[in-house]
Amino acid sequence: MPWKRRPFDGRDIASAHTIADLRAVARRRVPGFVFEYVEGGAEDEATLTGNRAAFGALRFVPPTLIDTEGRSVGTELFGVPCGAPLAIAPTGLNGMLCPDGDIALARAAAAFGIPFTLSTLSTTLLEDVASHAGGRLWMQLYVMKNRAIAEDIMHRAAVAGYEALLFTTDANVFGNREWDKRNYRKPGKPRARAALDALRHPRWLAQVLARHGVPRFRNIEKFLPPGAASAVGGSTIIPQMFAPTLTWADIAWVREHWPRKLLIKGVLTVADARRAASLGCDGIVLTNHGGRQLDYCVAPIEVLGEIAAEVGDRLAVLIDSGVRRGTDIAKALALGADAVMVGRATLYGLAAAGEPGARRALEMLTVELDRVMGQLGCRSVADIGSHLLRG
Ligand SMILES: Cc1cc2nc3c(=O)[nH]c(=O)nc-3n(C[C@H](O)[C@H](O)[C@H](O)COP(=O)(O)O)c2cc1C
Repeated sequence: MPWKRRPFDGRDIASAHTIADLRAVARRRVPGFVFEYVEGGAEDEATLTGNRAAFGALRFVPPTLIDTEGRSVGTELFGVPCGAPLAIAPTGLNGMLCPDGDIALARAAAAFGIPFTLSTLSTTLLEDVASHAGGRLWMQLYVMKNRAIAEDIMHRAAVAGYEALLFTTDANVFGNREWDKRNYRKPGKPRARAALDALRHPRWLAQVLARHGVPRFRNIEKFLPPGAASAVGGSTIIPQMFAPTLTWADIAWVREHWPRKLLIKGVLTVADARRAASLGCDGIVLTNHGGRQLDYCVAPIEVLGEIAAEVGDRLAVLIDSGVRRGTDIAKALALGADAVMVGRATLYGLAAAGEPGARRALEMLTVELDRVMGQLGCRSVADIGSHLLRG
């Protein structure tokens, strides 16, 4: 019998080699409807799959015989040293994956000296993340119809010492995540099949549900109608609270309430990048929300080069959506990004094994980046340039 390659089927993070391996562990650890919430994209998932394909289409052209002994993945963001050109992207409902999921992710980020971004829709109070995790904290802002919610978040994040605000601008009309919806018989009510599957995950039930009950949208709980604060009940009410009226004119209002670094998360055109620069923003995040919003949307890596060439001297340019490998990070840096953000990569680690799992994900990405830098003849992240790519 010829030797057959087998995909990873381990259960522990120590034997996992890749983010895809961590994903396989995560898939076993949490109920299907929770995994689907993390995994899925909008509609035909063309944006979701396109993000990976766009990274895959770029190839390196490596120079050879360059001494890279003593190379480092360290960099600076906003003048502050950073352990790697990486930051954890904001994701809501992290408490559904593991108890105190936000704190676990923030601690993992702190261990690597990189920023962690807390979602407006987190299951932990922003003040508790600051006091229990520390590290470099950024706050993500969703502006809802009731502007008092955003004003409250901005005020509290400033008081708690958050370094930067990421104003998310690509979810003002909420994405149509049909795969996610299929797990519910009506808004907030999981199907019997989904509930049964949860019963098959006793460890998750004991650790996540039994300890504190269904996780809640703690940061905005006081503004929600009764029954809407729980992660299951609220996930259908919250999308209706988003404000489709937001425009560039609202940046001035955000600026009135937020004194520190301001990044716009949701830019994909050169014109918008210029606008962010002219309005005094400090950075932009090129993103398609990991394929969860507009379907058939361009991949951020496809527009990165032109945008970085236009505003890279004035703005910090970050990118996310589809980053799973050190090679992806190197490609983004080569095209002019200052750093990349990861959403699902660290969520897979978190779901697989809590904080150690999230750390393992960051270890994989940074070790892979270090290796690829060596193979590309780069000693520092500043050496990674467009001459290394053919697209
Ligand atoms: C489960 C999940 C929840 C998310 N929640 C938020 C959120 O609350 N706010 C936000 O700005 N982006 C949110 N995002 C988008 C991420 O910040 C990020 O843009 C995306 O995950 C990057 O793609 P990747 O998962 O392929 O790395 C979420 C993404 C996922 C996967």
